[in-house]
Amino acid sequence: MLDKTRYQPLVDPIERASRDEIAALQTERLKWSLRHAYDNVGAYRRKFDEAGVHPDDFGRLEDLAKFPFTTKADLRDNYPFGMFAVPQDKVVRVHASSGTTGKPTVVGYTRNDVNTWSDVVARSIRAAGGRPGMKIHVAYGYGLFTGGLGAHYGAEKLGCMVIPVSGGMTERQVQLIQDFKPDIIMVTPSYMLAILDEFKRIGADPRQTSLNIGIFGAEPWTNSMRSEIEDAFAMDAVDIYGLSEVMGPGVANECVETKDGLHIWEDHFYPEVIDRVTGQVLPDGEKGELVFTSLTKEAMPIIRYRTRDLTRLLPGTARSMRRMEKITGRSDDMMIVRGVNVFPSQIEEKILTVPELSAHYLVVLTRQDRLDEMDIQVEARPEAIGPEDRQRAGERLAHAIKETIGISSTVTVVAPGTLERSLGKAQRVLDKRPRA
Ligand code: DLL
Repeated sequence: MLDKTRYQPLVDPIERASRDEIAALQTERLKWSLRHAYDNVGAYRRKFDEAGVHPDDFGRLEDLAKFPFTTKADLRDNYPFGMFAVPQDKVVRVHASSGTTGKPTVVGYTRNDVNTWSDVVARSIRAAGGRPGMKIHVAYGYGLFTGGLGAHYGAEKLGCMVIPVSGGMTERQVQLIQDFKPDIIMVTPSYMLAILDEFKRIGADPRQTSLNIGIFGAEPWTNSMRSEIEDAFAMDAVDIYGLSEVMGPGVANECVETKDGLHIWEDHFYPEVIDRVTGQVLPDGEKGELVFTSLTKEAMPIIRYRTRDLTRLLPGTARSMRRMEKITGRSDDMMIVRGVNVFPSQIEEKILTVPELSAHYLVVLTRQDRLDEMDIQVEARPEAIGPEDRQRAGERLAHAIKETIGISSTVTVVAPGTLERSLGKAQRVLDKRPRA
């Protein structure tokens, strides 16, 4: 854990700016970004024209609500490079995220964009307690996924020694942590659990590593999972958020001194939260779908992008920039089981209240005689011995879920190491119900 008494916040001046200063900067940058998108991307010009709006209609922040949303479908329809606002010879990098169906969505960066991205990731690492000279083990995947290279460039920019391990080969991850003695690890929280298992398997004490800070993101994870990881490794665990369409990791990050949600780097990304059904902008504090507009991106400006992530905006604390509450789920991950809406994160919270159960789980949905069935497969902790203990733990979990979420489920407690481990983002739901 960090010694908080020696903790000196190190921030860019804009992170401490007044709300008025931030709003003035956002207004100026939004004008540029709307104009840049309209002038240089056919898809935006068509959408704005159809909606009867023009960049000149933007004068103050509230005016953004007049502009149309962008969705993943827009990116797909313009595959691969149709959303770029600069000639291809100005694009120095592309990334892509694989959708569940069809073609990937492609994003591009100019040299300035890569610099901006490195800056916001460096700022994120600093918010997490990272400092120049520290060693950072990056176990996010390198490649078309933005996680590995995004973390890498930010860590270098901050002046850290980067250990670019990428995902997978868990035994080697542990060996490198033991030998290279990194201060910080950047990885998905679910893969951190796989690393934890490996420490236990070889009989090494994870609390004795050099790791002080973990910067976890790319998938939803709960505060219960935070406590689990912090206790297991004796480290501070903070949340990093981002998405390819908006930039990659480093759109928002938690500050280690407060761990109270993620500060959005509002000088580069303008957030709104909308009602998912009506599309109306909701006041800060109300929960809905997060929408982002890029303020400085050159290669691929993004206007009012519907992230499908559900959260709410909160006032700044450790920084003057607003926070977003830890994401409880994506609208895509929401399961409707016998008419009840439930997110995997709600199940995760309950699992971690049962001491015999670990955070490796999979929710399997089936349909029997037109009724939804939910089976939660969850691994016992290695310490939890005996079939009877396991059965009792499973019954306690089913009871807790029924009591708090209101759904009847079966729980199958399986042996440690049985469920497939993800190397990156974990798959939490297997929906085997016939499609309507
Ligand atoms: O996951 C970028 C990233 C890499 C973020 C490494 C953090 C760390 P995509 O693959 O485009 O980009 O997926 C973006 O992942 O819309 C969220 O649904 C989810 N997500 C990302 N970070 C978090 C987080 C990267 N901290 C999608 N909490 C987003 C919850 C997250 N969900």
